[in-house]
Amino acid sequence: MVEIARSCAEVRAFLAVPRRAGERIALVPTMGDLHGGHLALVRRSREVAPFTVVSIFVNPFQFAEGEDFDSYPRSTETDIERLEVLDVDLVFLPPISEIYPAGPENSTRVEVPGLGSILCGAMRPTFFRGVATVVTMLLNAVQPHVALFGEKDYQQLLVVRRLVDHLKLPVAVESVPTVREADGLAMSSRNRYLAPADRRRAPILYRSLREASERIRSGERDYHALGLHYMKALERAGFRPDYFSVRRAGDLESPAPEDRELVVLAAAWLGPARLIDNVSCTLGPGPA
Ligand code: PAJ
Repeated sequence: MVEIARSCAEVRAFLAVPRRAGERIALVPTMGDLHGGHLALVRRSREVAPFTVVSIFVNPFQFAEGEDFDSYPRSTETDIERLEVLDVDLVFLPPISEIYPAGPENSTRVEVPGLGSILCGAMRPTFFRGVATVVTMLLNAVQPHVALFGEKDYQQLLVVRRLVDHLKLPVAVESVPTVREADGLAMSSRNRYLAPADRRRAPILYRSLREASERIRSGERDYHALGLHYMKALERAGFRPDYFSVRRAGDLESPAPEDRELVVLAAAWLGPARLIDNVSCTLGPGPA
């Protein structure tokens, strides 16, 4: 039976035993409604640490007014069953008051300037503040040796790496490659918002990212024009794109000609579903 903790004190008490025994503890933070992407993180966690904690918390602070906090899919019972099968040791299911003792708006918050306000942060100005705050809180509650995040949410991964670096949190951040459906669509809890016709066209997003990445590898260097081209192509295919952008993989700044580690990122709406995805793009050594 997987153990359940609902407060930070319960988590700490439960973890005292493995900690005293010197066992490595891993944390996988999630908002639940677990799919193959989440489960890949959990499987990886089981490989890197003998003790795995999974948190399930739909974080109100990362949803803006008018976003889908109320309708976000919640399936805690099924989630727990899935985690039991994977031999997870502890599931942390905090109520909102445990994470935000003074309410989300009046509790202490964590902000990552710059990185948190570009791309998705430009479209959703309070989103990364919400993510950074809850991740800091969860890392502090669990104090894991390693925490695992998906590359699907690439900007989120970099935001977490940066806050861990700036706050000198004693945790290793490990990333796990994006898990996809058979047709290439990145798995996401929000895919269930897609109407059948939109679900059929959704893989175009990943195909466009791959194609753009191939064109860069074949010598395309006008990243701005490339981004605009695919914005228009996505619009023609029925998407409402927020951005399609080539960035430096390490910090998401605009790439200089000598940068070799790139990532192509996109966010686009199909009806009520906002899809995000990215493809990394490593260039060979440039001219001397
Ligand atoms: P959630 O969307 O539930 O995702 C939890 C973790 O699963 C994140 O690290 C995310 O990147 C990863 N993930 C989601 N889909 C994936 C896929 N198709 N392949 C690989 N990994 C995938 O991301 C969040 O929750 C929240 O913002 C959170 C970090 C928990 C803070 O509230």
